[in-house]
Amino acid sequence: LVLSNEHPLNDGRTAASPLVRALRGDRPDRPPVWFMRQAGRSLPEYRALRAETPMLEACLTPELAAEITLQPVRRHGVDAAVFFSDIVVPMLLAGLDVELVAGRGPVFATPVRTAADVARVRAEHPVERLRERLGPISEAVGQCIAELGGTPLIGFAGAPFTIAAYLVEGGPSRDHLRARSLMHSDPEAWRDLLAWTAELSGAFLVAQVEAGASAVQLFDSWAGSLSLADYRERVAPASRAALAPVLGSVPAIHFAVGSGHLLEEIALVGGEPGAVAVGVDWRTPLDEAIARLGNRTPVQGNIDPAFLDAPPAVLEAHVRDVIARGASAPGHVLNLGHGVPPTADPTVLTRIVELAHA
Ligand code: CP3
Repeated sequence: LVLSNEHPLNDGRTAASPLVRALRGDRPDRPPVWFMRQAGRSLPEYRALRAETPMLEACLTPELAAEITLQPVRRHGVDAAVFFSDIVVPMLLAGLDVELVAGRGPVFATPVRTAADVARVRAEHPVERLRERLGPISEAVGQCIAELGGTPLIGFAGAPFTIAAYLVEGGPSRDHLRARSLMHSDPEAWRDLLAWTAELSGAFLVAQVEAGASAVQLFDSWAGSLSLADYRERVAPASRAALAPVLGSVPAIHFAVGSGHLLEEIALVGGEPGAVAVGVDWRTPLDEAIARLGNRTPVQGNIDPAFLDAPPAVLEAHVRDVIARGASAPGHVLNLGHGVPPTADPTVLTRIVELAHA
């Protein structure tokens, strides 16, 4: 993917931003900071804006998606915006029947459980169909970029396994047993399914980058349920394929929840060590993750969201500890170890930004 001369990474706006520098393995004076799920449920201004609009409709209304993306940047002064959307938006645009059920998550009307289901879903919802419908996404990203100036926008997509897990289960599940069963009962159908989800995620990333995103993050929320061997052989190649279209054009972050046992493989999704930054969840101390990755990989994380409600001095000590543990990495982006909880007090997030910037 070749970025235009007007892309924020090429025209002098974001290339020297603390976020881009850290993701490229540099150490700016202070760690850049943003929060996964910073746009959304924790902000009263978001809840007011969304009051009459269903989530997926908001995602496909450029003015709304852009405004929601910008809210936390204005409020907290974070070092990056993350595009407001959802991991199922590419599926929706490709024509799948998916709903976001409040308090539960994505639910697909027709689960994909057999080789015939996989063949059907691929034939009926080809990536071309998604590409034709990405206009509202490009438009929303463009509106964000116009206001962000030197603050980079992070584009994102769900990783092929997480998307496939929702599709096979038909909705959220605890252990993803049906998805993991298909992987072993019909490896070929599984490979085809992940090749297709990877194509959709890749196309979604490309649209955001072409429209001006200066970095991307791949979210693998469910990879933690996999064994190392299954992850390496049956999932990582698809995640690599999803990132491949944008790798080399913009820095990438690869984040998988509960994946301490997979860390080395997560890092290798870029092909070689250091090609992607690794998002570390709160369970693995950052210094331990950095050492396991050979001190060659930029990292992101990993404030435990459970500390957000703690007394200010306790939270501050935890944040300082995370920053200190991140010091041995070639680059460190301060973030939570998972998304902002809906109950988080937004003033606490602002305080973390001030602390990181002090
Ligand atoms: O902030 C909000 O909760 C409001 C908007 C919203 C998002 N997703 C934004 C989002 C809503 C209502 C959803 C629905 C949804 N999708 C849920 C929650 C269901 C509920 O009501 O409790 C879930 C679990 C999904 C699926 C999903 N989306 C996953 C697994 C992920 C990956 C990250 C993770 O939490 O593990 C997402 C990404 C997501 N959803 C982002 C946003 C803005 C990603 C970008 C970011 O970090 O901000």
